[in-house]
Amino acid sequence: METFSEVFLNRVSSWGLAILGAVVIILASWLYYPGSRSAYPLPPGPKGSFIIGNILQVPLERSDAQFAEWAREYNSDIIYLNLLGQPVIVLNSLKPAVDLLDKRGVIYSDRPPFPLLEALGFRSNVALIGDGTQYRKIRKAYGNFLSASSSLAYRDMQLRHAHTMASEIATSPEKWQSCLSQFATRVLFGLAFAIDVVDENDPYFKLANEMGWVLSNMGNPGFTVLDLAPWLGNVPRWIGNLIPSVKYANDHNPVIEEFHQRPFDAVMQGHKAGIMKPSFLGRLLEAREARREDEDVTKFFTDTEIRGAGGSLYSAGQDTTYSTETIFVMAMVLAPDVQKRAQKEIDMITGGTRLPSFDDWKALSVVERMVYETLRFHPAVSSGIPHRTLKEDVYRGMCIPKANAWAMLHDPNVYKDPFTFNPERFLPVSEGGGGEPIPIGQFGFGRRVCPGQYFGFSSVWIAIATILAKFDIVPVKDKDGRDIMPKLEFTSGITRYDFA
Ligand code: HEM
Repeated sequence: METFSEVFLNRVSSWGLAILGAVVIILASWLYYPGSRSAYPLPPGPKGSFIIGNILQVPLERSDAQFAEWAREYNSDIIYLNLLGQPVIVLNSLKPAVDLLDKRGVIYSDRPPFPLLEALGFRSNVALIGDGTQYRKIRKAYGNFLSASSSLAYRDMQLRHAHTMASEIATSPEKWQSCLSQFATRVLFGLAFAIDVVDENDPYFKLANEMGWVLSNMGNPGFTVLDLAPWLGNVPRWIGNLIPSVKYANDHNPVIEEFHQRPFDAVMQGHKAGIMKPSFLGRLLEAREARREDEDVTKFFTDTEIRGAGGSLYSAGQDTTYSTETIFVMAMVLAPDVQKRAQKEIDMITGGTRLPSFDDWKALSVVERMVYETLRFHPAVSSGIPHRTLKEDVYRGMCIPKANAWAMLHDPNVYKDPFTFNPERFLPVSEGGGGEPIPIGQFGFGRRVCPGQYFGFSSVWIAIATILAKFDIVPVKDKDGRDIMPKLEFTSGITRYDFA
């Protein structure tokens, strides 16, 4: 078995960090939803300052942990925050998230505006657009083309890229992070556009990396100056450039636009030439083409919508897949015994002579548990992407203006030793496990639940199975030969955290 060392986990991002911690629901707006007019009390929460409310109390990094801390302090799994006049409700446990976001999904599926992301060029990104006709049309297409059964069609492609990743790590173990990232990039390009990204010099890979960089360095979405004063997006460019977030949007908008346009053009060309391989975008184009003359044209996608739907798959799926893989590597360094046990079980199935394939899924339940535990241990989207309510709602006698997700997966009442990586916690007690529930919430809730969850889960499954079968993951040594254990640190961004 070859080894690769946990050198630096320099950069892990995830839309996922959003969900694991808590689910945040944002009120439509204070104007439409003045809590003071409600007959019901607001949930408890820290006392804020005049006008700015709690904004300065919410840390830029690991806000999910602070939300959980407030939940303990106020003895309430739902807490209330006032962020510059915008009421925010943070849901720190599973029950209210299911009760509100799942069961009352009709009114909890809107999104608040994200002015910085929109100015950067993510205007038609599905994760950000509000509930409405266009959104529902795209979700329907996602439902058709990314369902559990539709996602099976991509397994050969995922397996092929997992093998490439393994040979790349074997050649350059010190570049393991880049290899994991390329795997995530390749499977998402394969899914969305049927484009083969060759290596790190591939222009698509470079473009994707640039977009990743833009997303990970934009600051805390929703809290930049441009987010708080969206009108700054309309001032003359030279004035706007005096404001860092406006300048950031102006400087990086061309990359994001290009990211949405280039693969779309490539798929269009293939489509016209009749040489298109199956991809999500291709299927949308085919569906549009096959439209009957008498059918309602609004049911079909415009070019802008197709570009947005394809780009959204990549932007929401690459980071989360890569983050989850990286967290897995870190977990293996922290829990060498778990790694050895899993490798033993894999070897029993493969005989140690071949790499696992999706056909081994059932026999390798250990890998499935490891994926669940990785998603629980540090969910890629820990505080969830905010949901916005379309109207006032009342829950447990409280007025609910808006909501958040990491605490749920670390609830000590549900998961024993929640900060320990232990995939056996999901095994039934009768089989020697902890009998703890398979986590939900890491993929979000209600109508906004992650449409890429089946594809994402299987990408991570095959990556983990392949890595465990082929490599030992060990900590890097210091000059005296002692192990250097990784330190998990989180950075701001919708879905990003870093290790050092
Ligand atoms: C593998 C790990 C992944 C995790 C942990 C994850 C997690 C999430 C979460 C928490 C949300 C927000 C849900 C909500 O608002 O309640 C989300 C949304 C989304 N995800 Fe994923 N995701 C993953 C992979 C993927 C993949 C591979 C794709 C694409 C194939 C994808 C596409 C999307 C899209 C388009 C949205 C926006 C949905 C909407 O707003 O309606 N995700 N994801």
